[in-house]
Amino acid sequence: MTQQATQEPLYVGLAGMGTVGGGLIQLLQEDKDLIYRRTGRRIVLRKVLVRNVTPERAAQLPEGCELTTDMAALTDDPQIDVVVELMGGTGAAHALISRALEHGKHIVTANKALLAEDSEALFDLARTNNCLLRYEGSVAGAIPIVGTLTDPLAGNHIVSLMGILNGTSNYILSEMTTNGMDFDGALRQAQELGYAEADPTLDVDGFDAAHKLTLLIRLAFGLDYPFASMPVQGIRGMDKRDIAMAREFGYRIKLIAEARLHNEADGTTRLEAGVFPALVHHSFLMARVGGVYNAIRLDGAPSGPIFLHGRGAGALPTASVVLSDLLAIARGDKPNNTGFANRIVRAAIVPPEEWRSRYYVRVMVHDESGVLRDLAGCMAAENISMAQVIQKENEKNVVPLVFMTHETTAQAMTRALQKVHETGILQTAPVYYRII
Ligand code: HSE
Repeated sequence: MTQQATQEPLYVGLAGMGTVGGGLIQLLQEDKDLIYRRTGRRIVLRKVLVRNVTPERAAQLPEGCELTTDMAALTDDPQIDVVVELMGGTGAAHALISRALEHGKHIVTANKALLAEDSEALFDLARTNNCLLRYEGSVAGAIPIVGTLTDPLAGNHIVSLMGILNGTSNYILSEMTTNGMDFDGALRQAQELGYAEADPTLDVDGFDAAHKLTLLIRLAFGLDYPFASMPVQGIRGMDKRDIAMAREFGYRIKLIAEARLHNEADGTTRLEAGVFPALVHHSFLMARVGGVYNAIRLDGAPSGPIFLHGRGAGALPTASVVLSDLLAIARGDKPNNTGFANRIVRAAIVPPEEWRSRYYVRVMVHDESGVLRDLAGCMAAENISMAQVIQKENEKNVVPLVFMTHETTAQAMTRALQKVHETGILQTAPVYYRII
């Protein structure tokens, strides 16, 4: 047997020693054999960039690795081959990655906010300098969706994708569904368990899922959907009554990220994309994704549907895919950073008012004669056909009246609900969600 020539180690500088950074340091120490067997090389952590140097942090580092607070100590060090950015945020991370690319370093990052909001210049810089810019850890934790879209699925036309991309929101919705908790209680529990941040805005208001969707759109379709234009609705304030009513109809409420291509009659294509809570029939795999798990369904031609499910967050699961990016660099992979040979082009967008779907609607009304007639009249005036109706009688006079519609547009639904409002029958604002 010929012995493979021993290659130089791959030298790494890490920026950020938080949850995933700490996980990566652990894996680099525990998985030395695996790394060597997979690549024939060692991966050596030389420096770690932190905001504050502390003895506790220093104690977690492998021998010979230094802590630094100086960004240039990573980006400008000729002995570092790869900079791993796990510090998050956009400003400083952008500066770090740009400077490292200018110095010819490969990059591994899990920073979805940066890649969604401000990455065009970084991808251009990586291309010019022939550097790898890898980001498997930025979408859906341990699920290998970035590599799946850039490599094994590259021979397909992706026509649509749908995902549960935020584990925190999925945990909250799962607790509300399974244990009847209200939103605030489920959020508090998620925070106590370390799933949700003290400021949960990015997760529960849908922005984290929207960042990830923006990346998936580029990878799947080769199109840029500007993040600022993305329609985003989160789950904050979700009423447990709607979770319970949806269950009675046989559905689960999930925070869905969706993108689909529309082939127009004139031969052009437009992209429909957004993040929104939606009712998913309990028999669909997507409805069964529980807790902090994530899932993605892709529809490609000729592949047909593909469903990926796995841990969407967590120190070691996410660190494992960051490590796999390092292994790809250690093996000498060629840059294939966006999955497309040319620059990504701007998507033509389907405006949200044109989106078509069935709807779940809950209105709070007085339990008296003529209310249902008025409601049905407003729906009929916009050509919306009601499919199922339930009214819950109770001891109070104001009752929930819930109905599901046949397919219509978002615009028709908005207009119909405005007409309902004008009749004066609504006691609170209506709640309505798409059904997928
Ligand atoms: N906060 C994210 C989530 C994990 O809850 O899914 C990191 O992207």
